Amino acid sequence: MKKTVLVSGGAGFIGSHVSVELIQAGYDVVVADNLSNCDMTGYEGVCKITGRDDIPFVKTDFCSEEQTEALFSAYKIDAVIHFAAFKAVGESVAKPVMYYKNNLSSFLNVLEAASAHGCHNVLFSSSATVYGEPDKVPVTEESPRKPATSPYGNTKQMCEDILNDTVRATAGTEGEIKGILLRYFNPIGAHPSALIGELPRGIPNNLVPFITQTAIGRRECLSIFGNDYPTPDGTCLRDYIDIVDLAKAHVCAVARMLDGKMDKPCEVFNIGTGRPVSVLELVNSFEKVNHLKLNYKFAPRRDGDVTAIWADPTLANKVLGWKAERSVDETLAAAWAWEKHLAGK
Ligand code: UFG
Repeated sequence: MKKTVLVSGGAGFIGSHVSVELIQAGYDVVVADNLSNCDMTGYEGVCKITGRDDIPFVKTDFCSEEQTEALFSAYKIDAVIHFAAFKAVGESVAKPVMYYKNNLSSFLNVLEAASAHGCHNVLFSSSATVYGEPDKVPVTEESPRKPATSPYGNTKQMCEDILNDTVRATAGTEGEIKGILLRYFNPIGAHPSALIGELPRGIPNNLVPFITQTAIGRRECLSIFGNDYPTPDGTCLRDYIDIVDLAKAHVCAVARMLDGKMDKPCEVFNIGTGRPVSVLELVNSFEKVNHLKLNYKFAPRRDGDVTAIWADPTLANKVLGWKAERSVDETLAAAWAWEKHLAGK
């Protein structure tokens, strides 16, 4: 029998790409989203790419216990992937209550409903932000979690803990929950079809949407935040991972849960490439692969940025049988194709 995966936040950037990969791998998917930070473009793109017109979309606010409960009553869910959350670091500093309320209550409601309805498998979308400024790079899953530098980061740590505690407390009970935490590094790019991608509202906080919007003329100039870091070219180092590669990791993780292959009831995996790339290198690659010149300048460091962080993805490579495959160039070409698609070019 086909298994059904609920994707909370399934109309968003990561959720839409994950929905596509799950459907293409043969799962039934229920896309649920409250559309607070996106429109229906993501969901419509999922339908177009998969050639399906029967994918359920349920407008759901996971902060509502009633709506979450109704969703789990309406569908027999075998696994849930929880993306629905606010994600802007700066905004979380300005509006902590809003972030804690939204990110925690939605996850608590999902866990409660999953446990009550016999959905035993919960995958939580976590972030490399839980490692803070690491003492040693690359970071493994054993690297210590550092105190969060923003309420957003704190919600990721807290949700990790909540899942761990729930897994421990429900072990052996009827409402047993098994958990997988995927810690993403820097997801970038877009689907090669250019039908789904990142749709930031307002001025983008993240590097790649700012680059593509500058290239298309929506922004005047990219500011590179800091060129005096102790790195080879003075700019920060990150592990940029292609969004489709990242999405495929979820398919491997879901299969592992549903096939009963987990070694521990709560597992953690770094989802990254293992390849550090500096901001300047990324900008240079974008210019080269897309044959254009980007207007950029060096600007002061941005508060809260860590100097360098990249993944040791060995565990995910071995245990999930997953590996990031796309080059930075391919990913930046896809990001540009998506920006042009948005501009109707
Ligand atoms: N950067 C610029 N100019 C910009 C935007 C970003 O120079 O206009 C630089 C940043 O200073 C940083 C790098 O580009 O060095 C990457 O910045 P992003 O904002 O794209 O990504 P971050 O690494 O800061 O943040 C990502 C996720 C967050 C997560 C964080 C820590 O977007 O959700 O990693 O894990 F919290």
